[in-house]
Amino acid sequence: MSAAKNKVVKRVTTQVLQDMKNNGEKISMLTSYDFSMARIIDAAGIDVILVGDSASNVMAGHETTVPITLDQMIYHASSVIRGVSRALVVVDLPFGTYQGNSKKALKSAIKIMKESGAHAVKLEGGKEIIESIERILSAGIPVMGHLGLTPQSIYKFGTYVVRAKEEEEAKKLKADAKLLEKVGCFGVVMEKIPAKLATAVTKSLTIPTIGIGAGVNCDGQVLVTHDMMGITKEFKPRFLRRYLELAVEMENATKAYIQDVKDGKFPNKKEQY
Ligand code: KIV
Repeated sequence: MSAAKNKVVKRVTTQVLQDMKNNGEKISMLTSYDFSMARIIDAAGIDVILVGDSASNVMAGHETTVPITLDQMIYHASSVIRGVSRALVVVDLPFGTYQGNSKKALKSAIKIMKESGAHAVKLEGGKEIIESIERILSAGIPVMGHLGLTPQSIYKFGTYVVRAKEEEEAKKLKADAKLLEKVGCFGVVMEKIPAKLATAVTKSLTIPTIGIGAGVNCDGQVLVTHDMMGITKEFKPRFLRRYLELAVEMENATKAYIQDVKDGKFPNKKEQY
């Protein structure tokens, strides 16, 4: 069970995450989009559950995170909240609900908090969206930043390759991270950037960094649960470690069930009334 050194944590809050960074305890984070999965990973002791807009990919089958809507995110988040008693639940503000209009951003964040019962929101970007972040924070809503590969901007990047390898982009990322800390974000996700850069940013910040494809020196790590459990079979980036091959196991279980039904072996006498 994870604890802020020597202390069993009953409910993870943003302050607990800060204490974990201060004490050198790593933060574990996974995605979830539904009640059943959230209940399992929460009971296992995960610190943070992200209701990611990756739901657009893994739950809805879209190619990108762009199509998912605010109401769909709220549906996923409220299902997750019902399964969680310990973890901090962070919800992604989806594409088009916060960029370029800070009043709209606040409205979107409030809608998520009120209708889902989540604990915090996450937004992709730095300086370009700082007004939106500041307005959301001013309402007392905790905000997590997200820098590096920001999938909502996929049509600007054109590809999902490693970000900030060049000096100019690395410099901007460092400045953005500092800015997010300065305005009051409680943490920053850094996605698919060189480990050396992630280490430097982590050392330069007092708030926790959470890496995905950003090396071991971040204050914590996040993965998409469907990827680490092996439910998504085709997605195999270098940073992903699979802890299960669930797609294979589920396929085998399905085949066994089909066979039992076809052979008249299911249900047996004990499985009927
Ligand atoms: O939507 C998501 O799952 C994310 C993680 C990849 C960090 O933002």
